[in-house]
Amino acid sequence: MERKIIITEDGSNSISIPELNVTYHSVHGAILESKHIFIEKGLLYQINQSTSKQINIFEMGFGTGLNALLTLIESERLGQKIYYETIELFPVENSQIKLLNYCELLQRNDLQKTFEQLHHCDWEKEIKISETFYLHKTKETLQNYKTSAPRNLIYFDAFDPNAQPELWTEEIFKKMFSMLEPGGLLVTYSSKGTVRRAMRSAGFIVEKLPGPPGKREIIRCRTTINGK
Ligand SMILES: C[S@@+](CC[C@H](N)C(=O)[O-])C[C@H]1O[C@@H](n2cnc3c(N)ncnc32)[C@H](O)[C@@H]1O
Repeated sequence: MERKIIITEDGSNSISIPELNVTYHSVHGAILESKHIFIEKGLLYQINQSTSKQINIFEMGFGTGLNALLTLIESERLGQKIYYETIELFPVENSQIKLLNYCELLQRNDLQKTFEQLHHCDWEKEIKISETFYLHKTKETLQNYKTSAPRNLIYFDAFDPNAQPELWTEEIFKKMFSMLEPGGLLVTYSSKGTVRRAMRSAGFIVEKLPGPPGKREIIRCRTTINGK
């Protein structure tokens, strides 16, 4: 399937798959979207409310590595230890990784090599990227993925429910719920009614939050009410 590099409205790149009519990020701004949903409403919120020393993240869909890069930056800025586990079925090709302009736009050219390392490091292994950030990538489908390690945050970043309805079901959200420890959170960009219903049926408490540019609402859901 052909993947094309595109430029989104904040100047940052993303990837589109014309055949599936999907993009990896919002066309209104890839960096803006990832920062708003996954970093501000997910990571920083969880760091504030969690009593755990380490934040254990599971990401559905490594893609361009933008969420991982932004998380690494926060981990170093805050001195917060983060274990980042991610799955990806179709890794981005080397020729396209080089074209992604995230480090330049974030004015972190010093991280370009580290960004490429996120992509090129071994799969199916825990890799120490920095003193505070550990990465574990798995080449597997979400449906077949198995893990026993408890997580306290999930970045649910599958393609749109219209393109991949099989990944936004009650069964999948039950699996996500079971991967989270009490007080665990899941953040995602889709606030579609069928998605919220599937999350509730799986046991989640669902909260709608204001979205980034071009998106009215996003979802943060949790396993327990009081975060304990
Ligand atoms: C919306 S993009 C993820 C964007 C990514 N988080 C980023 O920061 O660039 C969805 C990703 O999920 C991957 N994917 C699609 N179906 C999958 C499946 N069943 N299991 C695992 N990964 C899948 C795609 O290849 C794509 O990279």
